[in-house]
Amino acid sequence: MENGSKIIQWGILGCGKIAHKFAQDLLKVTNAKLHAVASRNLKKSVLFGLLYNSENCYGSYLELCLDNTVDVIYIATPHSFHFEHTILCLNHSKAVLCEKPFALNSNQVAHMIDLAREKNVFLMEAMWTLFLPHFQYVLNLIESKELGEITNLKADFGYQFGFNPESRIYNKSLGGGSLLDIGIYPVFAALNMLGIPSNINAKAQMTSTEVDENCDIVFQYKNGVSASLFSSVVEETKTEAILTFEKGTVHIHSRFHEPSKLTITTAEETTEKTFEVQTNGYNFEAEHVTDLLLNNKKESPLMTFDKSLQLMKLLDQIRAEIGLDYN
Ligand SMILES: NC(=O)c1ccc[n+]([C@@H]2O[C@H](COP(=O)([O-])OP(=O)(O)OC[C@H]3O[C@@H](n4cnc5c(N)ncnc54)[C@H](OP(=O)(O)O)[C@@H]3O)[C@@H](O)[C@H]2O)c1
Repeated sequence: MENGSKIIQWGILGCGKIAHKFAQDLLKVTNAKLHAVASRNLKKSVLFGLLYNSENCYGSYLELCLDNTVDVIYIATPHSFHFEHTILCLNHSKAVLCEKPFALNSNQVAHMIDLAREKNVFLMEAMWTLFLPHFQYVLNLIESKELGEITNLKADFGYQFGFNPESRIYNKSLGGGSLLDIGIYPVFAALNMLGIPSNINAKAQMTSTEVDENCDIVFQYKNGVSASLFSSVVEETKTEAILTFEKGTVHIHSRFHEPSKLTITTAEETTEKTFEVQTNGYNFEAEHVTDLLLNNKKESPLMTFDKSLQLMKLLDQIRAEIGLDYN
């Protein structure tokens, strides 16, 4: 790490919608500073930089990678560029926090991880949900077995994105479709709450641009445990998660992947659990990465390389089931 101080100097690569939300929350993170931003268009990066007090604004992603005062780069480009941009950053020895999905397939993810290890540079997938207080609370509840074993999960994420064949949601060459964009959240919840399924069934309806407009997934585990997962880019759904346990249920209210609240019901009582979050919720992952970098770590103990690889292998298997190939 180039800087001798205790402040981690962040760079943002790609100044789109999520980059704005992340930059807003980064302003709230201790020991972190937005130091540089990069867009393919210099004017755009200057405007973005002005909003969030970035000292350096670049008109190309390469210039950001060549800035040796930047410690870590947050990659916020469409899915289909995550691999290329992560490789670019790692090859310039920049630590990376890359948006979800980590890449388009598990071969790419494996390659990214191998390079991070070879270069001894930090790398993490920005699965922000994992770092949210309510999600951690639920994972601890499962682990504690206070409500007995978890037997079923139902989780959905449906949002009506207006049809635009050029947009990253519908454009196949940008990794379009519901599964990789929002279906990843129900799949990620199942992976964290229930583990790797022994059987996967999935079906999808495709758009005229040949990506999944919705995707219906069933994961089966031993002992009759199952997960029903759904995503859609053409339909608003509740976007909640319901967990059934031997001794009760946990309802993660809409939208379950964002800062949210819980209702826990047992035979004896119903409890509402709220979590005070004053931000968009991206500060938790940014804080985690900042702390790890200050401690010279190269991998997150929570969002591990293995977890990202397992997640992408599940998405690969679902895509094989629904016949969606990005190559
Ligand atoms: N964690 C979350 O809650 C969350 C929420 C939304 C999205 N995401 C993820 O973040 C990524 C970006 O999503 P977004 O909604 O921010 O997308 P977006 O608004 O379209 O922004 C993507 C940015 O990527 C850059 N880019 C580079 N090459 C591009 C190309 N050929 N076409 C379009 N953009 C290109 C552009 O930045 P410049 O013009 O500045 O170069 C663009 O502004 C996606 O992978 C998505 O899954 C995560």
